[in-house]
Amino acid sequence: MKRFLCLVCVLCGLTAIQARQRQNFDADWLFMLGDSAQMSQVDYNDSHWRSLNLPHDWAIEGDFYVGNPSGAGGGALPGGIGWYRKHFKIEPSTFKFFLEFDGVYMNSTVYVNGQEVGFRPYGYSSFEYDITPYVHQGENVVAVRVDNSDQPNSRWYSGCGIYRHVWLTQTNPIHIKHWGQYASFLGPDKNGRICFNYQVEVDNPKRGKIAGTISLIDADGKIVRKANLYNPPPVKGSPYETSMIFRGGFYFDDARVLHKWSCDTPYVYKVRTVLKVGGKVVDEVETTTGFRDFRFDAQTGFWLNGKNMKLNGVCEHHDFGCLGAALNEDALHRKLTKLKAMGVNAIRSSHNPPAPELLNMCDTMGLIVMDESFDMWRRKKTQNDYARFFDEWHERDLADLVLRDRNHPCILMWSIGNEVLEQWSSAEADTLTLEQANLILNAGHDASTLAKDGELSVQSLLTQHLADIVKRYDTSRPITAGCNEPSPGNHLFKSGAIDLIGFNYHHEWVKDVPKNFPGKPFILTESVSALQTRGYYRMPSDSIYKAPKEWWLPYTDPSFMCSAYDNMHASWSSTHEQTWDVVKHTPYVGGQFIWTGFDYIGEPTPYGFPARSSYFGIIDLAGFPKDSYYMYQSEWTQKPVLHLFPHWNWVPGDYIDLWCYYNNADEVELFINGQSQGVRRKDEHTYHVSWRVTFDPGEVKAVSRKNGQIVCEQTIRTAGAPDAIRLSVDYQGKDATFVMAEVVDKDGNLCPWADDLIYFIYEGEGKVLGTDNGCQTSMENFKAPQRKAFHGRCLVVATGPGSITAKSAMLKPTWIEVK
Ligand code: GAL
Repeated sequence: MKRFLCLVCVLCGLTAIQARQRQNFDADWLFMLGDSAQMSQVDYNDSHWRSLNLPHDWAIEGDFYVGNPSGAGGGALPGGIGWYRKHFKIEPSTFKFFLEFDGVYMNSTVYVNGQEVGFRPYGYSSFEYDITPYVHQGENVVAVRVDNSDQPNSRWYSGCGIYRHVWLTQTNPIHIKHWGQYASFLGPDKNGRICFNYQVEVDNPKRGKIAGTISLIDADGKIVRKANLYNPPPVKGSPYETSMIFRGGFYFDDARVLHKWSCDTPYVYKVRTVLKVGGKVVDEVETTTGFRDFRFDAQTGFWLNGKNMKLNGVCEHHDFGCLGAALNEDALHRKLTKLKAMGVNAIRSSHNPPAPELLNMCDTMGLIVMDESFDMWRRKKTQNDYARFFDEWHERDLADLVLRDRNHPCILMWSIGNEVLEQWSSAEADTLTLEQANLILNAGHDASTLAKDGELSVQSLLTQHLADIVKRYDTSRPITAGCNEPSPGNHLFKSGAIDLIGFNYHHEWVKDVPKNFPGKPFILTESVSALQTRGYYRMPSDSIYKAPKEWWLPYTDPSFMCSAYDNMHASWSSTHEQTWDVVKHTPYVGGQFIWTGFDYIGEPTPYGFPARSSYFGIIDLAGFPKDSYYMYQSEWTQKPVLHLFPHWNWVPGDYIDLWCYYNNADEVELFINGQSQGVRRKDEHTYHVSWRVTFDPGEVKAVSRKNGQIVCEQTIRTAGAPDAIRLSVDYQGKDATFVMAEVVDKDGNLCPWADDLIYFIYEGEGKVLGTDNGCQTSMENFKAPQRKAFHGRCLVVATGPGSITAKSAMLKPTWIEVK
């Protein structure tokens, strides 16, 4: 109901704009898993198809299965071919009609009224088709074939289907082209002047006279500057020379009149173009922009608006745990909110173009973005991945990424690729299995595979070519690439086209950066890859466990878990504290993007099936923070932090390591059942304090003090037998509510070993969207309305209005309202 009202509002809003209507086209599609050429046809009988609203991901509805061709690396969920159809009406008009897809994974073919309109292989690109020649007044049908059957084609879970929004836009024949408005602030120059540059590309089929205005509008809706657009000559070589570009700009002599976009005050301006013919408005387009003065410096790292700071970034894949790849704005906002609260100020859309909504949110939440294009170029990493389309499609896909995204103030760098095998002269990974390729990607390659002095190899030329494509459309941001070959002989570095040197991992090589890359700014495009399961602790905690020990060795452990002390990581990586220590204390490191903020489906390094989701996240797949979350919060925010862990439910007499993250204090004292276990202090290079104690049931308490005054206290009590379920709202979205269920004893203490199966009985107008518990090996279906607790907790996501009652065989039930 809410969704319907929403659509009506959008439509009402749109009818007010005379010239252009862009309407959400997500509602009332029909879906069928299966394939037949007939499904594109107008008279095909689709009456028995399932009806649904987009965005949709059919893979997340499936069961985990060892034989699914995606493999554990792809999340062990199904692929296949699916079709979507939608019947829609067109009123008589002289308008042009465009159908825009924000993302379809993958190999989509769109048909309108039985005629093929276009094919798009890359599952992360946004694209638009002019469907004017295919539609007619009255009933029309669009059919979309989505082919994700050739697997594996991804190193992580991709999802399947039309998993982002779809839009129908109608315009006058004279209209601003798709992504045709571009505006950016440049400067300040040496005189302190800021230039606001704009460019508006217009389709003008009859080559008639057009007038117009472009306005810069502040956050209160006030016009800051306005310029007239004058008729430019048609663009040479454009089809029938019907395309024209208005270009111009204006100066601000004093930057102080402009509000700056920053992480703390993300001020966003609007840019509005109005086109007129004969005094009548024919089109109107609005995009965002922001003024921020940033630079990466080879000596001092990253600067934003005159402030030297670190990029405290995380890499993120696009899935939303139990909601799959299907874009859900509430889940996305929950993700970003949790990351921001941890102190994160930057996101890397690894390793592909993100949903436009991510960029919109980052604009307004003050999160810097590294916008990334590809995980592979010509050389494949998995059998059927994008490499097979690269030659034909890279130019289009990369150009579309920049054209779509360049107006977002949050984007401060473009990445032209992640760990592409073109870094080396030869790439053995071509012939390896997915698991082997994943491992070798992170391993060193010998010197014979690096570029020779003075050599400009084909790989380097390809790097230059990709950088040129980006620069053709935007020169206001540096180009980087995630490189796991840190030698300057890396063919990408050798090309000279990488403005911002980016290492993936190799924190030990950071000290050599000034020598190896003189005069070049530097960041860690990817770092850490620690391995953790929420609530699982491997002792002794001061031993570091590498899993696997070396990249070429197999790894197995019957627990299928990884330690949530910061003492376990992949062989190519480090603990959280090790890399942060390097970043924090090395001025020329502009920052890092930790692998990863949230766990994601697929790539369950160091395990294979039945593990099916990652261990890398600082936050688990259900959205519950692991302990390292608080290490970063203590370092990256001013918020008072005192986080003692693990729980206090062990076997009497066991030796237990207790760790504590804290800030804003000089010391922490630990008490067990009232007895002091001593005071501990961090030094410049340590990020936690710890005690090795003997477990004695009761309570353990940490007290942090500054100048002798108590700053924070935290107590953990030994939980008794599981007694009841406790429900609480973990995050309230606009449509979806994320409810945490916890198993507690009779006094309300969390039972850290509880794994009771909890049933969620929903009553109301909405529904349960999914359940999860963050356990990487759970084989429970993500859509099932029941879920086992994992280390005492699980999650249910539902839309309202309604209520959820939680029941379990041995626990007292409870309920909660869903808005
Ligand atoms: C990197 C890669 C990521 C992920 C990570 C796991 O090499 O860029 O996509 O695979 O390793 O540690």
